[in-house]
Amino acid sequence: MKGGRGEKPEKPPALTEKQARFLTACITELRREAPLDRMEQYVQHGDTSCLRHCVAVAYLSYRLSLRLGLRCDARSLVRGAMLHDFFLYDWHQKSSGHSFHGFTHPAAALRNAGRLLPLNPIEREIIRRHMWPLTPIPPRCREAWLVCLADKICSLRETARMRPYPFRSLYGALPGKPAAGR
Ligand SMILES: [Fe+2]
Ligand SMILES: [Fe+2]
Repeated sequence: MKGGRGEKPEKPPALTEKQARFLTACITELRREAPLDRMEQYVQHGDTSCLRHCVAVAYLSYRLSLRLGLRCDARSLVRGAMLHDFFLYDWHQKSSGHSFHGFTHPAAALRNAGRLLPLNPIEREIIRRHMWPLTPIPPRCREAWLVCLADKICSLRETARMRPYPFRSLYGALPGKPAAGR
C-alpha cells in the first residue's frame, strides 16, 4: 500500500525497552513463519493497511494487558493479534463476494493462518472471536477479550485518521522500504 499512514509521524511506543524488545521478538518470529508482509497491500481502515492495523492491535493489546495487570500468555496474545485480520483480500470490493466481510473474515483469517502454522487454542480463539458482538459468540479467554477491545479502539483511531501507533520501530523495514529508524 503506497503512502500508508505508517509513513507519517507515529506515536513512540509507550513500553519499557524490555517490553518493546519482547513485542518485536514475537512479531519477528511470526514474520519468519508466515508472509505477514502480504497484508501491507490491502487497505483496512482509512489509509491504514491491514498489516499496520494488525501491528497496532498487537501493540495495544499487549499494552492493555500490562496496564491492566492481567496475567496472560503474552506470546499467544501478540501472535493472535498479528493474525486476526490475515484474510488477504480487499474487503472494499463488494462485487468480489465480500458483502458479508464483517461476519466471515475471522473464519477466512483462521483458515489462512491455520494452513501455515500450528495455531494454539488461544491464538485460534483470538482470531475467531475478535469481531464480537457482530459475530454472536463472545471471546472465551482474556487474550481474545484484549484483542477484541484493542481492535475496536484501533479501528476507530484509523477511521478518524488519528496519529498512528508505532509500526516502523516494532515491525522493521518492509521490502523496498528504508530500515526502521528508532
Ligand atoms: Fe477483523
Ligand atoms: Fe482488526
